[in-house]
Amino acid sequence: MKDNNILITEMIRYYAGDPKRIQHFIKVYTFAKMIGEKEKLPAGEQFILETAAIVHDIGIKPAEEKFGQCGGKLQEKEGPAAAQKLLTALGYPEKVIARVCYLVGHHHTYDGIDGMDYQILVEADFLVNLYEDGVSGEAVERAGEKIFRTKSGTDILETMFQK
Ligand SMILES: [Fe+2]
Repeated sequence: MKDNNILITEMIRYYAGDPKRIQHFIKVYTFAKMIGEKEKLPAGEQFILETAAIVHDIGIKPAEEKFGQCGGKLQEKEGPAAAQKLLTALGYPEKVIARVCYLVGHHHTYDGIDGMDYQILVEADFLVNLYEDGVSGEAVERAGEKIFRTKSGTDILETMFQK
């Protein structure tokens, strides 16, 4: 399997001068990697999950440049093309790129989750966003019921936000 360190370095460069976004994707990547390993994803799916977590918010920049805003749906719209360009330039396999682009284009869509890679990416993004957005205990509970499906992700959610 390809090493993702070059991709991580490229994404840090992509968000140069924006430490908040760099810290965001590193946290999402770390949670996704850990949950995927604990849930025993097959190696190929684990690699797709980790790659998708690194680039999942890549659509933020083109969305801001084109529309002056970066809401979830705009990010999903603009993300896949940007991810495709970067991953192709770095020589990622076509099959990996196709699934990663799908995940980038759907990571704010919570119906129709069609795989563990997708499920875990969403959980990892929630673990980070619930904290970064400073949401209420009630919203954490709601996310636990509506979004979280894996045991590993749910354990982290409950421990992190325990009262
Ligand atoms: Fe995110």
